[in-house]
Amino acid sequence: MGKKTTPKPSATVFEVTNENFYEIAWNVRLQFVESLIAKGETNPYRILKTMESWERRYELVLDKVMNYSPTDDGSRGNILAQGYSGNAQWMPRQHERFETLPTGVASFWESSLRGAELVVPAYTDMTGIPAKWVVDLCREEHDCIVDLGSGLGRNIFEIYFNGGPTEVTYFAGEFAESGRTVTEKLAALVPELDIRTCPFNHRKPDFSFLKGYRNVLMFSCHSIEQVDIIPDDYFETLASAAENVTCIHFEPFGFQISTGSPISKSQQNLAHDKNWNTNFVEVLEASRVGKKINVVFMATDLFAIDKISPTSVAIWQNQAASS
Ligand SMILES: C[S@@+](CC[C@H](N)C(=O)[O-])C[C@H]1O[C@@H](n2cnc3c(N)ncnc32)[C@H](O)[C@@H]1O
Repeated sequence: MGKKTTPKPSATVFEVTNENFYEIAWNVRLQFVESLIAKGETNPYRILKTMESWERRYELVLDKVMNYSPTDDGSRGNILAQGYSGNAQWMPRQHERFETLPTGVASFWESSLRGAELVVPAYTDMTGIPAKWVVDLCREEHDCIVDLGSGLGRNIFEIYFNGGPTEVTYFAGEFAESGRTVTEKLAALVPELDIRTCPFNHRKPDFSFLKGYRNVLMFSCHSIEQVDIIPDDYFETLASAAENVTCIHFEPFGFQISTGSPISKSQQNLAHDKNWNTNFVEVLEASRVGKKINVVFMATDLFAIDKISPTSVAIWQNQAASS
């Protein structure tokens, strides 16, 4: 009989959670941003677009550390636990279905619209859609714009450079410190823009940073998606963050309303596999029925950067903002 081997304790650094994923992913992008700034880039929008160009051709893959169960013959046993090492690699994107253009980008990509597959040409850009909604929703009376789960601040810069107001404070609320650091580096390049970062957790929203602001426009873009269950009083807390609150969510909640199409069914499976949110609609509806908020718009699967994770949109206001 072979000797029993004990697995070497591997250096598991970070537990596999959605929060840790982004802490690492934004940290890699921080290095990217810093290297462009070191080369003399001074325009945050150019930096973000340069990074987008890179990411059209390369995808970020986080390294994992595995622990295996012991086996008699020294071979690898079953995976007992896995974690993120904290490192990541840029890997060339593989194009299975469509021909690659000389630019290195697939000639088409797969999107979806209202439950049906949609094949769109290379360079169709849907990433700027949420920012344009926010710009058009902005009213003169708004004194600040708050991004809930802002990542590296992409949407805030999109809003500003797409005609967003200049006289407001932009708050980038983000859980990952590395994401906030990227936002701060980019914001430092536009001193005329009043952009502030703040730690923000959808699981325990705290708006003490909004003290003194009266008319608030908030939004979230695929960040509530990352939180399996939001608290029952989530919208009530947001609604009482200031006297007047208007909020728009760009979140993949279509499957929470109907799983009638194969795409919605895939979206439901994706949420389950990734431990993504499953109670946005239920909590929103309870807050609407309880008259904590007025839902003024709700539509599912309006655009899809990822075919099986289409974005749905909900807009609500607190009672004061709707009167
Ligand atoms: C898909 S990214 C979207 C980032 C940004 N909204 C955008 O559209 O570029 C998801 C974001 O949600 C953030 N996130 C994850 N868990 C969170 C939590 N508990 N509270 C707030 N944000 C969270 C991640 O750190 C990440 O920045």
